[in-house]
Amino acid sequence: MVGPSRMLYNSYRFLVLGLMVSVFFDASVASTIKKTRAASEGRQRTSLNADWRFERFTSNPDGLGYDILKPWIMPTANEFLTEQKYERPSGAAPGANVSYVQSSFDDAAWEAVTLPHDWAISGTFDAPGVSGDLGFLPINGVGWYRRVVSMDAETISSGKSVFLDVDGAMAYSAVWLNGQLVGGWPYGYNSFRLDLTPYAKAGDNTLAIRLDNKLDSSRWYPGAGIYRNVWLVTVNPVHVGHYGSYITTPSISAEEATVNLVLEIENKGNSSQSIEVVTEIYERDATTKKAMGAAVATFPTANTDVAGLAKQSVNGSVMVTNPKLWGPLPEQTPNEYVAISTVSVNGKAVDTYETNFGIRSIKYDPDEGFFINGKYTYVQGTCNHHDLGSLGAAWNMRAAERQIEALQEMGSNALRTSHNPPAPEYLDLADSMGLMVMDEMYDTWSFGKVENDFHLIFPEWHEPDLRSFIRRDRNHPSIIAWSVGNELPDQKNSSGTATGKILQDIAHEEDPTRLVTLGMNNAGPDTGLAAEVDIIGLNYQGEGKASWQSTFPAFHQKFPNKMIWSTESSSAVSSRGIYLFPVTANKSGLIGGQTGEGGDMVNSQISSYDLYAPEWASSPDKVFEMQDRHPYVAGEFVWTGWDYIGEPTPYSNTSRSSYFGIIDLAGFKKDRFYIYQARWRSDLPMVHILPHWTWPDRVGEITPVHVYTSGDEAELFVNGVFAGRQTRGKYDYRLRWDGIQYKPGNVTVVAYKNGTEWARASQLTAGTAKSLNVTADRTAIAADGYDLSFISVSVLDADGILVPTANHNISFEVTSGPGVIISTDNGDPTDLVPFPETTRKAFGGNALAIVKSEVGNTGEIVIEAKAEGLEGGKVVVKAG
Ligand code: GAL
Repeated sequence: MVGPSRMLYNSYRFLVLGLMVSVFFDASVASTIKKTRAASEGRQRTSLNADWRFERFTSNPDGLGYDILKPWIMPTANEFLTEQKYERPSGAAPGANVSYVQSSFDDAAWEAVTLPHDWAISGTFDAPGVSGDLGFLPINGVGWYRRVVSMDAETISSGKSVFLDVDGAMAYSAVWLNGQLVGGWPYGYNSFRLDLTPYAKAGDNTLAIRLDNKLDSSRWYPGAGIYRNVWLVTVNPVHVGHYGSYITTPSISAEEATVNLVLEIENKGNSSQSIEVVTEIYERDATTKKAMGAAVATFPTANTDVAGLAKQSVNGSVMVTNPKLWGPLPEQTPNEYVAISTVSVNGKAVDTYETNFGIRSIKYDPDEGFFINGKYTYVQGTCNHHDLGSLGAAWNMRAAERQIEALQEMGSNALRTSHNPPAPEYLDLADSMGLMVMDEMYDTWSFGKVENDFHLIFPEWHEPDLRSFIRRDRNHPSIIAWSVGNELPDQKNSSGTATGKILQDIAHEEDPTRLVTLGMNNAGPDTGLAAEVDIIGLNYQGEGKASWQSTFPAFHQKFPNKMIWSTESSSAVSSRGIYLFPVTANKSGLIGGQTGEGGDMVNSQISSYDLYAPEWASSPDKVFEMQDRHPYVAGEFVWTGWDYIGEPTPYSNTSRSSYFGIIDLAGFKKDRFYIYQARWRSDLPMVHILPHWTWPDRVGEITPVHVYTSGDEAELFVNGVFAGRQTRGKYDYRLRWDGIQYKPGNVTVVAYKNGTEWARASQLTAGTAKSLNVTADRTAIAADGYDLSFISVSVLDADGILVPTANHNISFEVTSGPGVIISTDNGDPTDLVPFPETTRKAFGGNALAIVKSEVGNTGEIVIEAKAEGLEGGKVVVKAG
């Protein structure tokens, strides 16, 4: 039987995405290229991040609210609506009489801020009404942002269009220019554009943005404020429209690939224009991110008329020989291309538009799993929230890059942007760093999970949000699937099925090249939603939640034509460096269980033996076994790669941040990092041994020793005495010596692979703390006011051994040079000292300070760390 969904599936099943390029080198082409590449006329994109004034109000200061503003905000969605469009109401728009929108308002007493800005992250962990699930930080309130935007007379008089591009503002944005309400966008994770043209004037313009972030708006820390970049874009009346290019590569071989381009041209002038479009493809330099060398292919020149106040698409197709494919590291290379389109009217270039893309094919196979460029690729993914630890939600390229670097070091090749659109630059990073992405849209549909989440606006906004999100992101080669939801409350009901279909249909319309998935934690194989969705995405049920009853077989049997993956797996919990005894003998244990096992309820810490998880969740070992027993499953997205602020299960009343991360909030690796590395980088000679070996109170007590290795056997020695050799069985992912009696000294493991020594590691008993070892992740950073150096401190004994129980107060200071400490952390979920404090307790012997450069100030930044009774340390970072 071929039902509609089956036909749909078949039509996508062997989809190929790619890109190509051909090469010409004759002189006339070369001169065209030169001319084209020099022609940046028409379009300007300027950062508006500097020079804002900001004020937060915990009660409504202006009498406005979404209900009042909504009729004027809804027309912003029109671009992304296929049927009903909204008319801007006639008459006076609300807010004109609010002083904050007026140029005469004196905002000198407001805080001076630079974007990206998260107003909550510098707060204290006691915000009234904000629970631990949202991190106790002051996310709520109305926030007003104001700045002056200068526009030159020529821009205004020549009829250019002026757009405001906001990459993300939390939440319910409403925007005024020169006292007039322009529009807005409620969903805080999505990007949006407003047309400022009708309200702009030559000279100084007053831009005012009102945000409204509600209590109980999220299940985790959402951040607050204009937390991503903001841009001013000016274009000529004839220009490439918003998200106006779409590139696909419907067929690829080693020799050649077809690249298709759809370019939407907008004419904001009144009269029809005859236009010409030339688009050239270049390789994109991995370091400079710029077009490189000569064009490798050129689309046939397109000529068309665009009527006044209308849009017109031009299509093109080109063959490219020997395409350099985009693929995930480490097995493949993330080659990138850029298509540069030049739009001309009467022979004069009026717009130049760049589209970054990659050439690659993907295949979703129900029996074998996921393939990229024809190569089987097990999806070794993690889920991550958008926050960047102690920097909060405020977007920072380097902080995100550091997160990805650590995940890749672990062997991860994929990431799920749980549960919302990421910053646009996150996807640029994923493209250039070779990380595959499941790009996710919502955590809720029309039934909420908390009182004020997205369900309130789902009816009007699901379509514009989803369409704009996909149009924004669909040229990124890193994206391998769209996720349209997570653990929807109505996933088992007909309403969930119907909504899922609506969203999936939209996704297919906007991008027929990728399949759609979502995270189902309790919709079974007999649900309508499972029948509807392209890829079966299972949260926890594949590994059997608390039992060992996997639902993988039932789904596979019911849907033999659909690929299955674990959209969310494990949710194991641990605190770095904390080990609690006794240790469960089971492969997976319930945190807290009947005996409180695995957790320290007094100190709100969780054992790092990596065996404990809440009732719906499982240890990594159990997940691995269930994945391996069901090899048709394409892979997993572990909850989570990094710890995040909020959702401190199971200690939501006391702690500020999660225990789920494989890496802690500060970026220090938990033991779990190595069980994933052992599995995901099986060719890397490595072995990791836990716990630490400094237990003055445990002499003679049973202290289990567990080992993660990519080898297949290991020998253990306690103070040089052989303690046994173990071999990994088929479903063993750790080796465990559970009967070891603690004696101070050392415990050493020697791992073997195929009979030869593969790696070795030790834990040594530390003596008294003596000194601080200070290191920087990078000792040279850009003096741009954004770049960061992450400064780590370890408390060491006289022999240079980490003191794993050290909890000294460590004071950080920039003693000279152009840098500033913007936050400190230690990865301890219970630490309620505000992030901007420069004194931070060591946790597990470690602490972190984040140093930011200053705009245009070069020189050597000297960062010192001190603690009472210890020798201090310092590190020098060059800003240049
Ligand atoms: C899942 C949910 C995630 C997170 C996780 C914690 O059910 O989708 O957002 O809450 O549980 O285990």
